[in-house]
Amino acid sequence: MDRTRHNPAFCRLPAAACMIVPPLIQFLRRSRVLKVLLTEIEIQAGIEALAKRLDAEYRGRPLTVLGVLTGSLIFLADLIRRMDFPLRVGLIQASSYRGTATLPGALEIHDAGLPILEGRDVLLLDDIFDTGQTLSHLVQHVERQRPHSLRSAVLLWKIGRQRVEITPDYYCFRIPDVFVVGYGLDYHDDYRHLPHVAALDEEDLG
Ligand code: XMP
Repeated sequence: MDRTRHNPAFCRLPAAACMIVPPLIQFLRRSRVLKVLLTEIEIQAGIEALAKRLDAEYRGRPLTVLGVLTGSLIFLADLIRRMDFPLRVGLIQASSYRGTATLPGALEIHDAGLPILEGRDVLLLDDIFDTGQTLSHLVQHVERQRPHSLRSAVLLWKIGRQRVEITPDYYCFRIPDVFVVGYGLDYHDDYRHLPHVAALDEEDLG
């Protein structure tokens, strides 16, 4: 129930204020402290540099960029528009995190609609390499499709959390061990739309 709407204190306010104040209070209750870690300009420069490396590596090869849903969506869109040579795009879904759990739960992979990867040079693209378990499982999963080659690229690589042998072949930024949102990354499905990457204040994680 929205208590503010039925609160007598609000009913004494002018009608217009009664309309504005309750949503404002709800907004303030929901708002969390975000500290910008990477600005939009920094992210775009990092992606530009990665696109140049990939161009040198993959131009003239049968490349399929395979984005991991949902977090890599914006990264994927920005990266492939800077890769000015023929390539294909595919999507695969992996979900392990629920909210901000610091350790991933069981990983679910959904690959319905996966394009043919056999004989292709596949670049697996994810938003963040944290413990590495997601990337490790995805690499094993995609290898079963018999690609000609398989490499991985991530936007962010969190320092000090790795729990697997493999590391990403390419990355844009190393970041400290903080929970981040924005530029595709979410907290309970919020904040993906932000053009920058921000750290969520620890007090706001729950
Ligand atoms: P692992 O630990 O398997 O994690 O490398 C990879 C996946 O977990 C999610 N993840 C995060 N999402 N802020 C987020 O919004 C974070 O700080 C964070 N750390 C991990 C993400 O979906 C990633 O693909």
